[in-house]
Order: sequence, then structure tokens, then C-alpha cells
Amino acid sequence: MDWGLENRLKRIFKPQDGRTVMLAVDHGYFLGPVSKLEEPGKTIEPLIPYADSLMLTRGVLRNCVDAKYDVPIVLRVSGGNSIVGKDLSNEGITVSMQDAVRLNVCAVALSIYVGAEYEHQTLTNLAKLIDEAQNYGMPVLAVTAVGKELEKRDAKYLGLSCRIAAELGAQIVKTYYCDDFEKIVKSCPVPVVIAGGPKLKTETDVFQMAYNAIDCGAKGVDMGRNIWQSEWPIAMISAIRSIVHAGASAEKAFGIFSELKNK
Ligand code: 5RP
Repeated sequence: MDWGLENRLKRIFKPQDGRTVMLAVDHGYFLGPVSKLEEPGKTIEPLIPYADSLMLTRGVLRNCVDAKYDVPIVLRVSGGNSIVGKDLSNEGITVSMQDAVRLNVCAVALSIYVGAEYEHQTLTNLAKLIDEAQNYGMPVLAVTAVGKELEKRDAKYLGLSCRIAAELGAQIVKTYYCDDFEKIVKSCPVPVVIAGGPKLKTETDVFQMAYNAIDCGAKGVDMGRNIWQSEWPIAMISAIRSIVHAGASAEKAFGIFSELKNK
């Protein structure tokens, strides 16, 4: 592996355990000012010390994150759709590789929509992005977006999406946790991280999902709403870190969360 590519990956996946806690704050690219992310800077800044990387758009990066921070950036480079538009899967590449390099990012991220109307377009977007990224030693994270097709959240569908992303050359794949998750990890030859999805009912549900994913071989989380839509985002991300980096159980993580939330 080329040094630049390896260095970027090792800034995201911590060399001591090969795992990562990525904080996803890119939701505005199609959802606009989603709850608790109306003022991105206010939500993001207190969480930076706890995040192994930030996943976000260039607009939020340039305008809402101080360049003094040494946090690795995973830049969302797909979009061109919106929650009120006709079809979420109709995405294009929205950032040039030149701008990604200018922003000094550690990876670029793009969504693929397997089985959706614009499947072919999003998969060829991924392939083109990987060709371009390869020239710069830039890792590509493929997001197996499900959008309105969330009913397809099972190992057969997500396993298909993850494998296709890896076959096209993505270095990291982000997907959703589901039953039989170990099958997805086993059949995907690159690191898999999980998204959190919409806010779950309880903190324990979030910790259990993160624990199960890691136990099945996921290399980390790329989580958003279940962290920053919580009343206690620092306690949430700290507890998730204990699962990802210290092998804590969901119960132990809940203990850490409870202790921190009352501070
Ligand atoms: C949107 C994304 C988000 O980053 C992803 O969904 C993670 O955030 P959350 O944990 O809130 O689901 O890629 O397409």
C-alpha cells in the first residue's frame, strides 16, 4: 500500500487496535437543518476531542470547524439530492479530488444505492471516484445507503451492497447493523463500520448494537444521531468509545454513560 494511503487510513483506524469511532455529521447534505444539527459548529465542537474522525461536507468543514483541530476528516463528496426530491438515489459526485486534497482530508465518502432506480449511476460514481482517489492516495468510504428502502435492512441486501462496494475498490464500507451481521463482515474484504441510523429508544439499545457489531468483526462505528441527538452527547460518545476501543460490554458502557451524564 502506498504510504499516503496507508497513513490516511491509520489516522482514521487507530493503530493500537485498528478500530475507529467516526462522528457522522454530514446529514445536512440532503436533510438540511436536521434536529440538533441546526448550528453544526455548536454540536460538533464539544465532541471533537472524543472523535477519531469527523464525517461531514466541505461547507460545514470550511464554515463550522476551526482549522486548528487535528481531527482526521472524512469528506462527503456525493449529493445533489434532497429529502423532498423525487428519488434519494439520484446522487452525483459533488466535490473534486483537488478540493478534497486542498482540505487535507483523510478519506472521501460516497453513497451507493443498490437496488434503487439510480443504482448504476451511484455504482459508477463510486468506481470513478476510486480511480481519481487512487491518484492521490486518498481512501474511499462507500456508504451503503438505503434511504426510503430501509425495509431492505437485512444481511442479504446489505451484504450484497457491501461486497459490491469492496469489489469496486472502496477501502472502507459503512453499513447498518442487522441480524447475521458476521456474514456481512466475512464476505466483505475491507473494514466495515456501522452507521447508527435514526435515534434508538434507549441508550442501552445503542450500546448493544455497537457491541454486537464489534463482536461480529466491525472495525468501528460512523455514528451520528444516536450521539448528537442525545441530551448527553459527550457521555454517549465516551461510552461508545469504551465499546470500540476497550471492549466494554453494553452494560459497562451504560455504567460509563450514567456516570458521565451526571457530571
Ligand atoms: C447519511 C450518512 C450518515 O453519516 C449516516 O447515516 C450516519 O449517521 P447516523 O448514525 O445518524 O445514521 O451517511 O447518508
